[in-house]
Amino acid sequence: MLKKKKQEITVVPNHIAIIMDGNGRWAKARFLPRMAGHRAGTESLRKIIRACIDFEVRYLTIYAFSTENWKRPHDEVEGLMNIFGEYLDKEVPELNEQGVQIHHLGSKQELSPALQNKMQNAIDLTKDNNKLTFSIALNYGGQDEIVHAIREIVKEGIPADEINKETIKQHLYTSTIPDPDLVIRTSGEMRTSNFLIWQSAYSEWLFTKTLWPDFNKKALREAILEYGTRSRRFGGRTEDEQKEPYHG
Ligand code: IPE
Ligand code: IPE
Ligand code: MG
Repeated sequence: MLKKKKQEITVVPNHIAIIMDGNGRWAKARFLPRMAGHRAGTESLRKIIRACIDFEVRYLTIYAFSTENWKRPHDEVEGLMNIFGEYLDKEVPELNEQGVQIHHLGSKQELSPALQNKMQNAIDLTKDNNKLTFSIALNYGGQDEIVHAIREIVKEGIPADEINKETIKQHLYTSTIPDPDLVIRTSGEMRTSNFLIWQSAYSEWLFTKTLWPDFNKKALREAILEYGTRSRRFGGRTEDEQKEPYHG
């Protein structure tokens, strides 16, 4: 029997952002503690970073912990913070070797001094890498980010009539990062949960029922193929449409 030819990727999103959701449900389905789901989630992340490098995606942003996730039970929050610290300890040397540049999106202040240090060290160590820019949204919320940006703008004394979209962009945590082309949310939930709300105004969104610990290179490949079928108009017309005569 003829083997079906693998579909080629023709359009690669420059920036993929992921809401890594469903760790809890993944663990529950296996009668495991929630932490086992979060740990399994870090394994998925490791695979997805490699896959992004293979597919030549230049920017990857992940939602690791939202400003609202502090509302979770103390034990879960503590467990997650430990996982983030362990993740950085374990993965940063390899990420550095792979040419990954690490960024943090969110406020550092509420993080433990130890985690703040680990994050800063990772940023400093990888700052000259250019294979993949990997941004970790940790203690991140889009609304908080906009409040933070406005405060900075006011502190700098920028006159009201000089403030435009570019001014806001320059004061977001993502000031040096282009807007995401594709935002993926796993686990079947269909909402932003406060992720990159400014930056994703014209992103393509893809919702998949796959739980984050099950999301792998094949799933990412499918997401990129789906992205390739989307027609991005940014409120205007596609190039092809532009050429058509206008019939009123
Ligand atoms: C996502 O998994 C990870 C974080 C929010 C830190 P969840 O813990 O939200 O998993 P579900 O949504 O309960 O399945
Ligand atoms: C969003 O997932 C945050 C992260 C994945 C880090 P949540 O599980 O916290 O979102 P809600 O509560 O279902 O909206
Ligand atoms: Mg969730």
